[in-house]
Amino acid sequence: MSWPGLIDYYRERLPVRDLAAVTLHEGNTPLVEVPRLAARLGVEARVYVKYEGLNPTCSFKDRGMTMAITMAVAEGASAVICASTGNTSASAAAYAARAGLACFVIIPDGNIALGKLSQAVMHGAKVLAIQGNFDDAYRMVMGVAERRRVTVVNSINPYRLQGQKTASFEICDTLGRAPDYHVLPVGNAGNITAYWMGYTEYFESGVTASKPRMMGFQAAGAAPIVLGHVVENPETIATAIRIGNPVSWKKAEAARDESGGIIDMVTDAEIMEAYKLLAASEGVFAEPASAASIAGLKKLTDAGRIETGSTVVCTLTGHGLKDPNNAIKSCPEPVRVPAELDRVLAVMGI
Ligand code: F0G
Repeated sequence: MSWPGLIDYYRERLPVRDLAAVTLHEGNTPLVEVPRLAARLGVEARVYVKYEGLNPTCSFKDRGMTMAITMAVAEGASAVICASTGNTSASAAAYAARAGLACFVIIPDGNIALGKLSQAVMHGAKVLAIQGNFDDAYRMVMGVAERRRVTVVNSINPYRLQGQKTASFEICDTLGRAPDYHVLPVGNAGNITAYWMGYTEYFESGVTASKPRMMGFQAAGAAPIVLGHVVENPETIATAIRIGNPVSWKKAEAARDESGGIIDMVTDAEIMEAYKLLAASEGVFAEPASAASIAGLKKLTDAGRIETGSTVVCTLTGHGLKDPNNAIKSCPEPVRVPAELDRVLAVMGI
């Protein structure tokens, strides 16, 4: 039987009643064990990555968007809007197209990865690139929503987090238990909130006997939660998490504190090192923001914060192909060789 999409699979745990799902069969992403990476990081634990880049629009946003768009249709909406660092806009555009709704996306001009922009335009969204950052774009969205009849599909929309919590269910269903640590990037802070909600629900209904510590990582140039104040001009190579005033700030702190976890930060250099190490050591390609979870795991390991023999899951939030420019910039250029066998063999050096 083919996977029906997360709404039909987890319907009794989602506030959708018997509504027909707007779906692209999102969810059911692989949980890949990464022993070679674990060895390279020196972590003596079982490490898995939840490969969310294998969702229909290649990021975890599809989990929330199937819910948000299903509910928007049920409520009679004709248009949706979001602010985005790229992935939310790609997902909103795709699911809106699927449902026949108009879609408006507001993005920070020049600061979204190429793949994400190509998705938003291809799916027919009206794309507004503003001279400002994500936080400015979000302010615009809230202003529009006050004046026009459009449904906001940023994570302030409660159905988004409901959909996203299903990633925790899948991890527990696959492992047959909850992990000991869950490591993930934090930007607008919705995802850490959603994962914690999912783990807590499974625990409270007796499906699992424990809950993980939530270990969130922001980029050092965009780390308002770590610093304890809004960052006016967030800056990081991981544009997906270039956010200075996260909407779910308080909820993320609650997830951190209730789980006995942390929210810390990693530098762009650490992110880029982890980005390349993951791709080269395991064949798993994730975008820079996703690699913040791997960089975070390295930081935790170096500080002796991961108990030996424990089970660790890192979320890889978006696919590496979302951001081809950073990939190409971070590696040596291909060697240019004439089409002559001797020259090819000489360059190969084996
Ligand atoms: N990783 C990726 C690839 C993202 O696109 C995002 C958020 C995050 C991590 C952080 O998740 O915001 O729930 O803490 N992207 C949003 C967007 C902001 O507009 O696509 P979060």
